[in-house]
Amino acid sequence: MSRLVVISNRVAVPKARGAAGAQGGLAGALNSALKKHKGVWFGWSGNESKKPSGTINMQRSEGVTTATIDLTPQEVDDYYNGYANSTLWPLFHYRLDLTRYERETAKGYERVNERFAESVTPLIEEDDLVWVHDYHLLPLGERLRSRGLKNRIGFFLHTPWPPTRLFVSLPSHERLVKTMLEYDVVGFQTQEWLESFLHYCQKELGAQVNEDTGEIVYGGRKCIARAYPIGIDWDHFQAQGQTEDARTAEKRLLASTRNRIAMIGVDRLDYSKGLPERIDGIGRFFDQHPERVRDLVFIQIAPPSREDVDSYQRIREELEQKTGQINGARSDVDLVPIRYVNRGYSHAELFGFFRASKIGMVTPLRDGMNLVAKEYLAAQDPEDPGVLILSRFAGAAAQLPDALLVNPHSPDDLAHAIDTALDMPKAERIRRYNASVATVQNDNVEAWTEQFTADLAGGAI
Ligand code: F6P
Repeated sequence: MSRLVVISNRVAVPKARGAAGAQGGLAGALNSALKKHKGVWFGWSGNESKKPSGTINMQRSEGVTTATIDLTPQEVDDYYNGYANSTLWPLFHYRLDLTRYERETAKGYERVNERFAESVTPLIEEDDLVWVHDYHLLPLGERLRSRGLKNRIGFFLHTPWPPTRLFVSLPSHERLVKTMLEYDVVGFQTQEWLESFLHYCQKELGAQVNEDTGEIVYGGRKCIARAYPIGIDWDHFQAQGQTEDARTAEKRLLASTRNRIAMIGVDRLDYSKGLPERIDGIGRFFDQHPERVRDLVFIQIAPPSREDVDSYQRIREELEQKTGQINGARSDVDLVPIRYVNRGYSHAELFGFFRASKIGMVTPLRDGMNLVAKEYLAAQDPEDPGVLILSRFAGAAAQLPDALLVNPHSPDDLAHAIDTALDMPKAERIRRYNASVATVQNDNVEAWTEQFTADLAGGAI
C-alpha cells in the first residue's frame, strides 16, 4: 500500500483534537484515513509567526506524522481570512452578497499555495499518493507539478461547487479551474456539485467531458472527476458513545430538560449553517403553538469560527439578537426555550447530547455534506430513535431521503417540521431511522478513503 501524503489547510495535531464541533468534520475524517495508510499530514499550524520561516514542525502520534508551518499575519489575512473565507467560501455557498473580490487577497492566496508547495515537496517520496483537500488549496496540484512532481495527486472539495452562472463571477475563474485539471482525480461530495463542475469545464473551458465516467480531457491532460460522499468514523463514534463522558452528558441533558423534549443543533457559527433562519422557524412554531412552549427546549451549540472575518462577526450578533428576542418573549421563571452555547464539545459528549435529544436540527442553507446529520443518527437508540430534521440543501440530504427534509429558508416549513417531529409516532420514527442508518454505518469515512485512494492509485483511469 502506498504511503499517503494529505495536505490541508488545517491539521488536527493530537493535543488539539478535542472540540469536535469547532474543527468541522474534515479534521476527524482525515485523521482516521491517515492512521490506516501510515501517512504524513501537512498543513498550517494555525499559528502566526512575524517573519516567514522555513521551519517545519514535525510530530508523530498514533501512527500519523503531522508536519506544519506557521504563516505570517499578512498571509493569514490574505489567504485564510481573505481569499479562502471572504471570496471562495461565500461564493461556493451561493452567497454572492457576501463574496468579496480583492486582487491583493487573490495574490496572497497564490503565494501561500506556493509556500505550501515549496515546504511539502521535500517530504514527498516517489511512490506516495498525494491527496490535497478543500478550497484553500485549489491550485496546489499545479504548483507541485511545476516543481516536477510526477506522483498521482488527487483533490477533494469538502464544500459545494457552485453553478456555472455564479462561479463565473469570480475574476480568475478560468485560471483556477485550469489548475484543478492538473490533478489526476478531483472529488466532490455529491452528484449535484460534480455536475456543476463538469458543466463549467465543458461550457466555459471547452474541455472534452464524458459525463458517465467523469473523464475530462483538457490541454493534453486527463483528469477524472467523481462524487465521493464523505462519511463519519462510525466505529470511533460508537466507541465514544460507550464512554463515561457520553453517559454523563446524556444524563446531564435529560436531567436539565426533565419532561420537555430536547431538540438540538450543533454547528460552527457560520452563515451557511442557517442559524438565524432556524431561530426564525422556532419563533414561528411558538407563534403558531404558544401552548407548546413547555413541550420543547432547543439547544444550539455553536462554537465561534473565523472570528476575524466581518460576515462571521455579523452572524454572531444577529443570532444573539434573535435568540434573545425569543427567550425574552417566551421565558418564564422556570423556563428558557432556547439555550444558546458558544463552545465546542468532545465527540463523546456530543454523542450523549444527541442521544438525549428527540429531535436533531440540521438546517444549513447550503452545505457540502454535513456530518452532524450523520452523527445525530449514529447516536440514536434503535429502539426509540429521535427525528432528524434535515435541510434539503445539505449534501447529506441526497443520502438521507427518509429524514424530515425541509426548506431552511421557510420559517413555516421549519415550524411544520418541528410540529411533525414532536408528534411523530414511534413506529414511524423507527421506520425512518432504519431507512437512514445503514448508509451512515456503511458509507463511512473508511469506505470514503478507500474509494478515493483506490481511484487515485490508478483504479479510475
Ligand atoms: O468543511 C469545511 C471546512 O473549511 C474545513 O476545511 C475545516 O476544517 C472546517 O470547515 C472548519 O473551518 P476552519 O478551518 O476555517 O476553522
